[in-house]
Amino acid sequence: MLNEIKEVKAQIDAKIKEIENAAQLDEMRHEFLVKKGKIQSLFDRMREVPKEEKPILGKELNILRKFAESKYEEMKAALDSKDEEIPDIDLTISGRRHSTGSIHPVRQTIREMVDIFEKMGFSLAEGPDMEDGFHNFDALNFPPDHPARDMQDTFFIKDNREIVLRTHTSPVQIRLMQNQKPPIRSIMPGRVYRNEAIDSTHLAEFHQIEGLYIDKNVTFSELKATMMVLAKELYGDNLRYRFRPSFFPFTEPSAEMDIMIPGTDKWMEVAGCGMVHPNVLKAGGIDPEEYLGYAFGFGIERVTMLKTGVRDIRLFVENDIRMLQQF
Ligand code: FA5
Repeated sequence: MLNEIKEVKAQIDAKIKEIENAAQLDEMRHEFLVKKGKIQSLFDRMREVPKEEKPILGKELNILRKFAESKYEEMKAALDSKDEEIPDIDLTISGRRHSTGSIHPVRQTIREMVDIFEKMGFSLAEGPDMEDGFHNFDALNFPPDHPARDMQDTFFIKDNREIVLRTHTSPVQIRLMQNQKPPIRSIMPGRVYRNEAIDSTHLAEFHQIEGLYIDKNVTFSELKATMMVLAKELYGDNLRYRFRPSFFPFTEPSAEMDIMIPGTDKWMEVAGCGMVHPNVLKAGGIDPEEYLGYAFGFGIERVTMLKTGVRDIRLFVENDIRMLQQF
């Protein structure tokens, strides 16, 4: 049996020299080191050897097992470090590009407009997206039968026609008048909702920025000048704009501002505006004999279309990364 032990040791020596990879090393382990391997089967045969030989054979077998185990461990360590030295990657492949996100173009316009208005002395205010009929309609001098109150234009909150998704940012004007004493000079950006057919210039959910200025001597020409300064800051001095007479229940006189789409001879309506109607001042708790006011409301997606050259408003909400990446 001593000879057999020597023989197995020689086999291990020979085997270890041939090993080049983990699979071969595992084969070696199976041959010698597992329960049914060669070393264990020598141990099993100890039962058959005469008593007096057992101590010496037992010792030799233990030495053999230690030898096999240490060879195995050595080789394993050598193979592992070889793996580390030559990583299994292709260094010629070009790197993966990490792209940084960007701010949505509509959000960029809001920030730009807020900056410009703040420089002109306006402060920032906000109101809720869900409004009551008083703030969205009644206080803004909408007669009870005004078509804007119709189901076709307004999203009513379920089972309660008194709560609506605001159809414009003008209700925030009322909230400011109720909570502040004049002079008031604020801008109010936010999301608005209309039950409206969608096309290249209309969305059912879009953004407006409302402006309100209330003081003792406020004039229509100041309103026009303010809107004109904003437009020039946004688009440069070469822009073409015009004011058209219009109608809103909450302003008198009222107008709309159009800007010419660059490279075309077409106008795009961007804002409604006017002098705050005396009834609206009253509803907000302000004496129309003492104070005057102007107000305006810009459509932010429209402003952004003119800024970016995007011709279809729907592109702003489709979230196509190829479109958004350009800004
Ligand atoms: C209003 O909403 C008034 N509250 C504006 C106002 C404020 C007038 C203060 C006077 C004083 P109008 O419905 O016209 O008005 O909307 C204002 C702007 O929002 C439009 O000029 C347009 O730029 C934008 N807009 C209107 N409807 C849509 C829509 N469906 N999709 C995208 N933008 C729209």
